[in-house]
Amino acid sequence: MTALLKIENLDKYYGNRGNVTKALNHVSFEAERGEFLGIMGASGSGKTTLLNTVATIHRCTAGHIYLEGTDITKLKNDELAQFRMEHLGFVFQDLKITDRAMQRGSTACSGCMRQCFWQAARRTISAV
Ligand SMILES: Nc1ncnc2c1ncn2[C@@H]1O[C@H](COP(=O)(O)OP(=O)(O)OP(=O)(O)O)[C@@H](O)[C@H]1O
Ligand SMILES: [Mg+2]
Repeated sequence: MTALLKIENLDKYYGNRGNVTKALNHVSFEAERGEFLGIMGASGSGKTTLLNTVATIHRCTAGHIYLEGTDITKLKNDELAQFRMEHLGFVFQDLKITDRAMQRGSTACSGCMRQCFWQAARRTISAV
């Protein structure tokens, strides 16, 4: 069976020639549907970089990210935008605008995003 999420030799480097930070260095793991994952590590170990890369907010330097068998590292920007809308949901750690939306059960799941984005946004804005 295809893993829901498969990360293969993922690298993410910041900076350039003289000053490179290897935030992710050959990271590999898999997650099955229904699994609940926690990522632990010391400050600076690359947790945020990993999440942002898997979430398609950042492009990886090398490696592969398969979501339901699709290698999302190969998608062009417009394809990624479509993929995000259809398959990904985000609950951001530090954007206060999600707090009230979450209380109302309007967290940013992808299906909800497509159908309810503007209604949820209007409710959130009017409540501020
Ligand atoms: N935009 C960036 N430019 C250059 N280096 C960066 C950038 N973002 C992160 N780094 C570096 O990449 C490494 C991993 O950072 P990251 O923020 O992913 O770690 P973290 O595990 O989330 O840390 P924390 O627990 O403090 O949130 C660190 O050495 C950090 O300084
Ligand atoms: Mg972090």
